Amino acid sequence: MRKKVSIIGAGNVGASLAQLVVQSGLADVVLQDIVEGVPQGKALDLSQACPLWGSSVTVTGTNDFSPTANSDVIVITAGFPRKPGMLREQLLAANAEVVSGVTKKSAELSPKAVIIVVTNPMDAMTYLSYKVSGFDHSRVIGMGGVLDSARFRTFVAWEFNVAPKDVEALVLGGHGVAMVPMPRYTTVKGVPLTELLPKDKIDALIHRTREGGAEIVSLLKTGSAFYAPAAATFEMVKAILLDEKRILPCSAYLNGQYGVKDVYNGVPVILGCNGVEKIIELKLNKEEMDEFVKSAQSVRATIDELKI
Ligand code: NAI
Ligand code: 2OP
Repeated sequence: MRKKVSIIGAGNVGASLAQLVVQSGLADVVLQDIVEGVPQGKALDLSQACPLWGSSVTVTGTNDFSPTANSDVIVITAGFPRKPGMLREQLLAANAEVVSGVTKKSAELSPKAVIIVVTNPMDAMTYLSYKVSGFDHSRVIGMGGVLDSARFRTFVAWEFNVAPKDVEALVLGGHGVAMVPMPRYTTVKGVPLTELLPKDKIDALIHRTREGGAEIVSLLKTGSAFYAPAAATFEMVKAILLDEKRILPCSAYLNGQYGVKDVYNGVPVILGCNGVEKIIELKLNKEEMDEFVKSAQSVRATIDELKI
């Protein structure tokens, strides 16, 4: 039997992700949204692309949750995106209500699913989804690090005029301005960035990565990035569906790892069919560790505002 991926929120990120899953042929897709007609219309459109893409999956659009029952993966993109000048954290109250409601309904119907949370402020929303779902924390994961690392890879590739796929990058910490890009673990065909560029140039690339989301918001004016976010989420979905055991930076529940407790923050994990199968603890130097702890504290402060 084919796997099932339910995408909650059929907006820019949700619909772009649906396209990637449908095109891959890896799973049936359910697209759920609160706005009548939108998920149905997008599902119909995607279904009509299947003959052209050579895909045999089914796509269902719905305002209801019942078609999501027994999903293997649930991706939460429902909520509101940023407007120019807004921080992700300013979406907290509105999006907490949405994430809490949709998590409850989807988790009840798909008790064995892995949940991926995309909605911002993502690390706090992932913590909320973990609490509301009652799932083991290994099956509730946030998407941020794969996107931030892809942005870092892009800027490094442009700097050297090389193929982006030949650049590996790692961004840890929360998906916010306190994220922690890791130049020591960022390589161009295996050579660490720290051996290739002076500090001021690396700092400029880090700055652009940290502001990567805001740069796109200020250009779009009416919403935030969605192509790269959908591609990053698809990488996680695929790792789970195919039990790939990929090592990806994801927002995972930390209970002592990296010196922090009871918080979600971005760390490298092994991602497979059971969700987070292992948290990889890298040896950080003092400066990196200080930045990581600061980032986790900032996520913790946002979680505290939720009063859960
Ligand atoms: P969007 O506005 O295009 O789509 C959001 C969708 O959620 C809309 O279709 C809306 O009708 C739907 N929605 C709202 N309340 C709902 C509810 N109660 N139930 C079901 N659907 C509901 O926004 P976009 O661009 O798709 O972004 C979605 C979220 O993802 C935002 O919070 C954004 O900040 C976040 N995001 C996070 C990223 C990350 O790296 N973690 C990257 C990109 C976006
Ligand atoms: C981004 O980084 C909005 O969090 C989203 O593009």
